[in-house]
Amino acid sequence: MTNDSPAKSAERAAPKSYHVQNFGCQMNVYDGARISEMLDDQGMTAAAKEHADLVVLNTCHIREKAAEKVYSEIGRIRKKHGSDAMVAVAGCVAQAEGAEITRRSKSVDIVVGPQAYHKLPDMVRGARNGQPQVDLDLPGLDKFDALPRARKSSPSSFLTVQEGCDKFCTYCVVPYTRGEEISRGFAALVDEAKALVDGGAKEITLLGQNVNAWSGEDHAGRAVGLPGLIRALDKIEGLHRIRYTTSHPNDMTGELIAAHGDVSKLMPYLHLPVQAGSNRILKAMNRSHSAESYCDILRRVREVRPDIALSGDFIVGFPGESDADFEATMQLVREVKYAQAYSFKYSPRPGTPAATMDDQIAPEVMDERLQRLQALLSEQQLAFNRSVIGRECDILLERTGKLDGQLLGKTPWLQSAHVNMPGLAIGDMVRIRITEGRHSSVSGEVLNEVSA
Ligand code: 5AD
Ligand code: SF4
Repeated sequence: MTNDSPAKSAERAAPKSYHVQNFGCQMNVYDGARISEMLDDQGMTAAAKEHADLVVLNTCHIREKAAEKVYSEIGRIRKKHGSDAMVAVAGCVAQAEGAEITRRSKSVDIVVGPQAYHKLPDMVRGARNGQPQVDLDLPGLDKFDALPRARKSSPSSFLTVQEGCDKFCTYCVVPYTRGEEISRGFAALVDEAKALVDGGAKEITLLGQNVNAWSGEDHAGRAVGLPGLIRALDKIEGLHRIRYTTSHPNDMTGELIAAHGDVSKLMPYLHLPVQAGSNRILKAMNRSHSAESYCDILRRVREVRPDIALSGDFIVGFPGESDADFEATMQLVREVKYAQAYSFKYSPRPGTPAATMDDQIAPEVMDERLQRLQALLSEQQLAFNRSVIGRECDILLERTGKLDGQLLGKTPWLQSAHVNMPGLAIGDMVRIRITEGRHSSVSGEVLNEVSA
């Protein structure tokens, strides 16, 4: 820990309330929940969106202007929470920018990286003396050991099983901000999953930057990969659904593919980023898979689970991407037929190899390519949502909808589904028949409740 600037003022009062604001990926949502649980454990209470004594910005650095967004959010904090609010910047912007944040913005008291946030209570104590606190350690699994064991569940809960990345795709900042690939232990994960289910979780999504690179030893000391962990969680009574994200094609083992065919709680949905359809670009991205090997994996998954909903990530405008390279991406999308997908314009990340490559693509070319790709993906999403009309499936109700009496759940294929029937509550599993498919959701009639 470094204390790198002079004291600001006399001792400040201990914060009694907190507000955590998350940016970015699901792993940040998990981290944000763990930070809240830890602050609860310290006797603090969650404040509404305003007037918190401690504000934690849990930041993301994956694409452009993330840091700028954080600085402008810091500027708004005083207005929302008052000038005495203690401000902590956590997450990947904290890791990437470090002490620079406290130099640029005097109202920031704490900068804590994504692997060090278990030290936040100590840092709050340090900051009360007016010393900016900065901790960017990447200590592996210490964080998980130090966090409270009790978990607050939602009907659909996240469980981080793996963090960091050793793949070093040339555009990506994750290996630098989240550190090297580490897997949490099997027993700790089974325990945490059970605690989540005891607290009311019916669905658990296993998270990791490279979740399918997870490895560990089961209760009998046998080496197991992600499918082994999934099979262990499948045995937990009261758990209905298992999902996992995000995967890398190179870690899609035969065993994991097989699990999609015979683990009934594993939902028919796979998010498998490809990034591009041109092998030349994939090579420059250091993806270490080809368009063909990627499509072959999807073919094998579809063989064991024909109804699987496929999702992916795409980057358009990577340095050197020609019209023909981009056409190869469009062609891959036409072949795969995605149920949904995420697509982004390439964003140079400081310190990554691609940021200094020749032949950066002009913004207007990127815009045009992104528009074309998104139009195709949106067409495919609508086609997928319509293809399930008439099917019966269970949905897990997760929150209230925009309309009166409406509840929103997720189908097995991760589509948002609206239902409207008195007597249903968040956390219920209900059986529906899908009656309508739209661009980003489906509707259905309720057949019966599966379980309370
Ligand atoms: N520019 C644009 N998109 C990126 N992603 C990661 N790094 C960048 C970048 N520098 C995208 C990839 C990844 C997703 C999480 O974000 O598609 O799979
Ligand atoms: Fe980033 Fe994913 Fe590549 Fe790792 S595998 S470097 S997290 S894009």
